[in-house]
Amino acid sequence: MNNNLVELSRDGEIAVILINNPPVNALGAGVPEGIAEAIEKFVQDSQLRAAVLMGAGKSFVAGADIKEFGKITSGQRAGSGLGRLLSKLEECPKPIVTAIHGSAFGGGLELAMATHYRVASPTAQVGQPEVKLGIIPGAGGTQRLPRLAGVAKAVEMCAEGNPINAADALQYGIVDRLIDGDLQLGAAEFAREIAEKPAPQTRARSERLGSPEENAQIFAVARQNARAKQRNMAAPLAAIDAVEAATTMPFEQGCEYEQKRFIECLFSEQSKALIHVFFGEREVAKIPDVPKQTAVLPVSSVAVVGAGTMGGGIAMVFANAGIPVLLKEVDQPALDRGLANIRKNYDYSVSKGRLTQQAAGKRLALIQPTLRFEGFSDVEMVVEAVFEGMELKKQVFAELDRVCKRGTILASNTSTLSIDEIASATSRAEFVIGTHFFSPANVMRLLEIVRGRATSKEVIATCMQLSKKLGKVGVLVGNCMGFVGNRMFGPYRREAQFLVEEGAPIEAVDQALFDFGMAMGPLATGDLAGLDVGWRIRKEHGHLQALGLRQPFAEDKLCELGRFGQKTGAGWYKYDGHRRATVDPAVAALMREWSTQAGIPPRDISAEEIVDRCIYGLVNEGARILEQGYALRATDIDIIYLYGYGFPAYRGGPMWYADRVGLDKVYDRICEFHRQFGAHWEPAPLLKELAAQQKTFSDFQSERGAAA
Ligand code: 3HC
Ligand code: NAI
Repeated sequence: MNNNLVELSRDGEIAVILINNPPVNALGAGVPEGIAEAIEKFVQDSQLRAAVLMGAGKSFVAGADIKEFGKITSGQRAGSGLGRLLSKLEECPKPIVTAIHGSAFGGGLELAMATHYRVASPTAQVGQPEVKLGIIPGAGGTQRLPRLAGVAKAVEMCAEGNPINAADALQYGIVDRLIDGDLQLGAAEFAREIAEKPAPQTRARSERLGSPEENAQIFAVARQNARAKQRNMAAPLAAIDAVEAATTMPFEQGCEYEQKRFIECLFSEQSKALIHVFFGEREVAKIPDVPKQTAVLPVSSVAVVGAGTMGGGIAMVFANAGIPVLLKEVDQPALDRGLANIRKNYDYSVSKGRLTQQAAGKRLALIQPTLRFEGFSDVEMVVEAVFEGMELKKQVFAELDRVCKRGTILASNTSTLSIDEIASATSRAEFVIGTHFFSPANVMRLLEIVRGRATSKEVIATCMQLSKKLGKVGVLVGNCMGFVGNRMFGPYRREAQFLVEEGAPIEAVDQALFDFGMAMGPLATGDLAGLDVGWRIRKEHGHLQALGLRQPFAEDKLCELGRFGQKTGAGWYKYDGHRRATVDPAVAALMREWSTQAGIPPRDISAEEIVDRCIYGLVNEGARILEQGYALRATDIDIIYLYGYGFPAYRGGPMWYADRVGLDKVYDRICEFHRQFGAHWEPAPLLKELAAQQKTFSDFQSERGAAA
């Protein structure tokens, strides 16, 4: 073979073709060529009757090499011509059996479907996840999958991008047999069984392509779902169109149509953003001064202090991962309330069919309620989630320092307080860290891991690894007020209030940001989280507000009227018993009155201004955070916003979005706001510098790292 990415060996009269391109056997440069060469040899060798195609390592093939997409769109590289290779495989006169273990995703599944048979390990998964990268299958996946699995399943898999397990793949006809035990032996045995039969071509099948009437309904529902659940995204609709083409066009023509839509998607801004997110999610796990080989501490039992909104959710997160939790409260009623909420949450999951009663019971049994510190000497980590107040936190940490063994990680879920000051109450600052979960903790994927000045590398490495085990995306941040996410959220929500105070209708502010792609508008988000939280903090930290700066008044005034948001049935909006929001004309009238009193004349405000002020509010603060080293990379900020704040993934995150707009343009707009609205809009020095140099945030790598 010309390259060692694909190896051909023999098992008697069966050829074994092994793809060996670690870590995930992506179909990068050299792999398709290697497969083509191996097939050529297999065809020419008359001793060989059938072939088994498989992947080395922990997986079959994870798809095309995503790193190569950027090279294609920038013109550095032509496409791989994978589609042509697959046609050649399919036309091979001798049968080829693909043996799947781990994952067969994207181009990996397309490769498998172009061979004549597929067998799989029971733990394998198959899928067409391309839409998650803003593209669609580009090597015949939308044409072959409906021929094997039927139109409905193919549309679902190609438009939603979620994988299915081996048992389902068997049921839907994507694989022909599951192999218990040694996959290669089982696949070779299967190959011997079918060796004399003609090699069936997927493209020639049409029995599962359905009737126009059935299909019309399937495509209509799929489009409706895509518009609702993958709002504003182009790829899911393109994927549906391409599967539809399989039902209306001959195979070759369908493939041409798929290719056209694939290229269209690949060159789109959405795809570039989603590919940035794919690599970003993996990059955040890499911390320059905490290398991969850093030792980690065991976390096989934990305790949570405080069973309120956050503590209860955090206890569930651990229990869901199979880790036993001690849950401590101050008194029985608080403990009972906390447990009742946990139970209610599990019951809800059971009622929705997401969890069996038995599994819920198992998880609940892992949570052991307590009013004392008994048992704390045995746990390996404690997460504190008591009320937000420095004195109380210090008291709790001093107590934990006394009762927990040496080596136990002491983590705080604080959202505003200094981890260093909390750590000062202990004799083990190196074991103290922030684990900032987001509400609801058992749902939101983001975990900000806050590094204190003394936090040890082992403790950081442990928490980063733990986040994955808990199903969270852990991002390391520095210890500053609000850390990264909430610090940026301040200017974002401030601008939303200012816009209303200047005359923008409340619902127009939320609608503009919803249309931009945010999961929820900023004012509705305030109502959900509770307007009183910020109000109380402002009352306590009033002295921190820079004198002379314009301060928003709207939410303080709403709170003074007892309008705390959803929890009181009224905030920016009014709410019915099902927490459904409607516009409250009384609030609009009050706003006008308050603005007049404050001497702010009303004006017409465009959706564009609403978006620019809120989003650039995020970006400007993000630039400061990056420059000060409280986030390691612009990407880390992006990931925080995607997983913690409902920023649309297809826009890549606030920093990526600004890069794509062009930092010179963003800088100019912020200067305009600075002139018009004053000191809040002082451009971040880093933004100014990068804009002048025609650079991007992605170019900037903080030299200091996420230091305290
Ligand atoms: N291309 C390039 N690199 C890839 C890759 C791919 N398709 N899939 C994974 N990688 C890289 C990751 O970036 C990571 O690199 P790093 O170690 O330098 O950070 C490494 O492989 C390991 O990946 P994970 O950390 O994600 O490993 P896991 O074991 O947790 O997961 C996986 C493995 C389930 C295969 C997961 O990586 C995955 O889902 N990969 C992407 C699958 C995908 O989207 N495929 C479609 C590609 S597009 C396509 O095929 C187009 C076609 O239609 C023409
Ligand atoms: P909460 O008020 O719902 O719950 C706090 C609980 O702690 C109460 O049940 C209280 O009885 C208990 N408690 C107080 N002192 C205690 C002690 N000494 N020992 C044991 N239990 C004690 O508060 P919430 O919202 O859960 O917040 C907890 C922490 O999480 C705070 O630091 C907050 O800033 C942070 N946080 C809150 C978020 C939210 O959206 N609510 C989001 C992220 C962080």
